Amino acid sequence: MTTVSESAGRALEAWVLRDRPSASYEFPHRAVVGAVRAHGINRLPHALNDLLVHTWEQARKRDPEPGGAEWVTTLWLECLTSRARGAPSYGTYTMTTLLERWCRLGDLPDRLTRISALLAADMIRHELRRGLREGDDGRRRSLLVAATRFARGLTPAPGWTGARDDVSPESPPEAVRRCNRLLSDDGAGLPPTLALLVEGTVPVATLEPDEPLFLRSVQVMELLAVLAAEYAAAAHEAALASEPDPHALEVSLAGITDALAHARRCFRLVALIDPGQFATIRAATAGTGALQSEGFARLERRCRGTAGVRAETVGAVGLDAVPAPAPSLGDTLRAAPPDERRRRGVEAVNEQWARWKHTHYGVAKRIIGDVPGTGGTDGVRYLARHLKEPLL
Ligand code: HEM
Repeated sequence: MTTVSESAGRALEAWVLRDRPSASYEFPHRAVVGAVRAHGINRLPHALNDLLVHTWEQARKRDPEPGGAEWVTTLWLECLTSRARGAPSYGTYTMTTLLERWCRLGDLPDRLTRISALLAADMIRHELRRGLREGDDGRRRSLLVAATRFARGLTPAPGWTGARDDVSPESPPEAVRRCNRLLSDDGAGLPPTLALLVEGTVPVATLEPDEPLFLRSVQVMELLAVLAAEYAAAAHEAALASEPDPHALEVSLAGITDALAHARRCFRLVALIDPGQFATIRAATAGTGALQSEGFARLERRCRGTAGVRAETVGAVGLDAVPAPAPSLGDTLRAAPPDERRRRGVEAVNEQWARWKHTHYGVAKRIIGDVPGTGGTDGVRYLARHLKEPLL
């Protein structure tokens, strides 16, 4: 074991052996995060891995109160140890299982908006610092421009601004300050649980420098897809009401549009991932592809009904976990009497969906080219076949 993993091991042993739960005896998250960062989750020394699995078993026996620090820690350990326990998944590798469950314990749209913005700020700050450190080459410049541009979409509260695509970027130090303001809750400091959810959720599998960017962007987009799906459910409810409320419907459709627009902006950074590094990350995280994304499946099935259910995704996201409601939101809206404001709302959703899909396709083509996808599909050809399907 290395010094970092040895001290993580000692801290874990002490935590497991403690006499009784005590608020002052905090879990050694930092030490474990340090060991993960030093080795990558797939290469942790066996002794430390075994200890982590044992700690998770002990922690879950205590059946902690949902939402508290012990509950977060137990789910965190569950995600961290999932590969070692032979149960890796997209949700545990990206820790979106933990992040989403925490969001569901409070005001869901509020929490999703806040945490996705915090994770985006953390990702941007990390990439800006990296860009400022690296030599003066084309990739460094592209990274700085993309990160500073993306940072313009963030604001302390509620997290995301309505930033347009054509805003001029700030200087990198200004963008770092913008992220710092958000990550420090405007100087007040994040509550401990939220701080852990940001600081502890980069469970890299490899030591590739691009993996934190990949992981974070998947987290941010997944949570934004869950947010879009939540707005779609609210839109559905408004459209099916015996006395439909046009304003509620309009607000919900705008919520879907905004969430998709923020998600798409993330691709500016993802597009810069080095293809060679991505191949290593992909090999190390086999079995955890985004085809298993429940957020995107929920959004698409809610909006398109059975038309949004593909054989490939049914294998990865079962219909029990994410059903396809009938009539779908799209069918419900098409059956309603014509209304100009609603038509514009639907058009805006469809435009952002098409842009997300086109950008995803372009990035996938650049990064993996013509090789099969991780989910067992024929890769970019699979994406191309479904490129033109509108959401509504
Ligand atoms: C590094 C860049 C990326 C590449 C090369 C890539 C590639 C692919 C490929 C080839 C597929 C087809 C399914 C499969 O066999 O795996 C796919 C599906 C998918 N990807 Fe990505 N992807 C990338 C980034 C992302 C990100 C950041 C997200 C955000 C969560 C994402 C979300 C999805 C979703 C939701 C699907 C399923 C789409 C569907 O069923 O139609 N991808 N991706």
